[in-house]
Amino acid sequence: MKINLKILTCSVATLLSSVAFAIIPQPESMKCGDGVFTVRPSTVITFNNEELRPLAAYMLDYFAVKKVAKQAPAENFISVELASGFKPDAYRLTVAEDGVRIVAGDYGGAFYGVQTLMQMMPSEIYTKRMKLPVKVATCEVEDAPQFAYRGFMLDVARTWVTTANVKRYIDWLAYHKINRLHWHLSDDQGWRIEIKSHRELTEQGGYRGGSSPVPPMYGKWHERYGGYYSQSEIREIVEYARVRNIEVIPEIDLPGHSWAFAAMHPEVVCNYEFDKSHLSGGLDTRDVFCATKESNYELLDEIFAEVCALFPSEYIHIGGDEVSLSQWKKCPDCSAYLKRNGYTDAHKLEDYFIERMAQILKKYGKRPAVWNEGINGGGLDKTTRVHGWSNMKDCRKVLEAGYPTIFMPAEYFYFDMRQSKYEVGSNWSNIFDVKHTYSFDFAEQGFSAEQVAKVEGFECAFWSEIALSQGGDRSTDYLEYMTFPRVCAVAELGWGKRGSDWDNFYARLSGDHYDRMSAMGINYRLMPPKVAYADGLLSASTDDNSTIYYRTEESARPVKYSRPVKCAKPGEYIFWSEYRNAHSPQAAHADHYKTIKPAFTLTSSIESGRKDGYKRIEEYRGRVTAARTCRNGDWFLFEFSEPVECREMEFVTGYTHIAHRIFPSGYLEVSYDGANFEKVDSLVDGCAKIIRPSKAVKAVRITSTTDRNSTHGVVINPPVVKPIL
Ligand code: ACM
Ligand code: ZN
Repeated sequence: MKINLKILTCSVATLLSSVAFAIIPQPESMKCGDGVFTVRPSTVITFNNEELRPLAAYMLDYFAVKKVAKQAPAENFISVELASGFKPDAYRLTVAEDGVRIVAGDYGGAFYGVQTLMQMMPSEIYTKRMKLPVKVATCEVEDAPQFAYRGFMLDVARTWVTTANVKRYIDWLAYHKINRLHWHLSDDQGWRIEIKSHRELTEQGGYRGGSSPVPPMYGKWHERYGGYYSQSEIREIVEYARVRNIEVIPEIDLPGHSWAFAAMHPEVVCNYEFDKSHLSGGLDTRDVFCATKESNYELLDEIFAEVCALFPSEYIHIGGDEVSLSQWKKCPDCSAYLKRNGYTDAHKLEDYFIERMAQILKKYGKRPAVWNEGINGGGLDKTTRVHGWSNMKDCRKVLEAGYPTIFMPAEYFYFDMRQSKYEVGSNWSNIFDVKHTYSFDFAEQGFSAEQVAKVEGFECAFWSEIALSQGGDRSTDYLEYMTFPRVCAVAELGWGKRGSDWDNFYARLSGDHYDRMSAMGINYRLMPPKVAYADGLLSASTDDNSTIYYRTEESARPVKYSRPVKCAKPGEYIFWSEYRNAHSPQAAHADHYKTIKPAFTLTSSIESGRKDGYKRIEEYRGRVTAARTCRNGDWFLFEFSEPVECREMEFVTGYTHIAHRIFPSGYLEVSYDGANFEKVDSLVDGCAKIIRPSKAVKAVRITSTTDRNSTHGVVINPPVVKPIL
């Protein structure tokens, strides 16, 4: 920790040029003195109100002191106190030579005063093994958040996250003054909350694949995969979060995203005969609750009675996103509802569904929150909380319509998006890193102050479709890498950037905050090294304290970088950096990423879903979908017009980097003469590679060894061919 011993009035203006305390999120004002308070094993933690007892116990866990008392001694104390005259979550932290006082109007404010104090101490405090004595600079901090809602959404439906890991996450969010966990507990691929009156929901729907009626999807294709939270675990998590000033808001995603539910309860979908002819295995892929079946509302009432009793939050998120209107349009009952009411827009059925759910929630003392599609019917009650996610335009629509808005446009706040071009992750909304998230600015986006006043706050989201295939059994490492330090940027946006710019933030982040996150145990992402090549020398540099390593493409052995590497072919080297438990993505000279596009023809045992067959892909115009799910023995054959000399060829079934519409298992064969094939690789999550082929490649065949992939198609992409350097 850097302690500035001069009197420093760290009001907003001075903070801009000072990173003396490197606090994230940056406090509103800080005045620093020239003395110190020493925390010793004998220091007493005190509290003036029973409400703060859990906070005192929390502090005892971290501060390495031994005693908690209701009465503050004359000196050598850290006291937390409730008093009047503070806004929600606001606090005053005074570090004097004789003791530390944290005063706030509510539990949240007191908790955040403690968090700021923790950031003024050595980072080891987060390991709970800090060695005393520790000196803290005297100071006075007056602080309050700009936005009431500072949220993180965790999708535990696609990738299962254990109770222990949810708690770890809650700790990390709390250290950053994030105060909402939006918990995405159900989706097409799983139901994760125990409902005692409907045990099948978790006992069967908590798992996919194997003996479950829910088909396998997204990784772990050949085993039963999943998990669920018992009601006692949920209560434990809610309480764990409450002590850390985090409100847990559950989401049961309805009426769409309900395939897992419908697999267990086929009676909930619309009342029409589904055409299964194009699906092997006879899967019914309907995933939307019928909006007009009275029995659905009775069933959902039983379920929500239990959901509402488990969560103290005022709001329950009921989804509303990406509803396939075509299912309602085909339904005689849903169509009749539209006709009866003189509606032509099927969105009106979503208004009806949400209104019925709102009535159920009201009975249990709750209000609904929905995704932004919920406003499309035009009839959504104006008090409904709306999460704007799809893009900036849709967020603007929500704000202009006057809803209390949670702001989370995917292009800034979806942390399942990859962080640079060649990294792992989705890319449908954007490719961005922490700097981009930090750059978000309402005024720059043309929002008026009046509109911003309707914003309850920010939320970032981690959707986990890809996490399982990226991280496997260590999928939480992937989750951490994708979310930190981007969460730090959201923490500061929500708390109020107050004029801080990227340089100021990055200095705080890559300085003390990297050490803190390491001590917290987070597998966060570092910025990639910068790579340059001149005069036959390949050099790499970073602007943090990380250590750079490199390797050649052919060797997995890392070499510590100490000076520029003399080489004729800069594309052959891969660099990255590491700092304690964090690492950067790989970085390389542009030559490394160059690809070539040899001409080929593609044929398959599966008919193409397009009139022009597989032609577009031949011309490298993108992926093509084969028109049915896969069967054991199905194949794609790439035949090159000329034998291709290359150092690598990658073949991807399914969407690039998303294990969806893939051959779930299979193998890749190469032919050097166009007639004889030899097996060179097995498919992992739909992908396989030929690395350094011994001869020029004439043809490649990919063969499926799995019957069906839980979708009605297989996607095939052009090969990615890397030339010989
Ligand atoms: C969403 O990303 N479907 C809310
Ligand atoms: Zn219907």
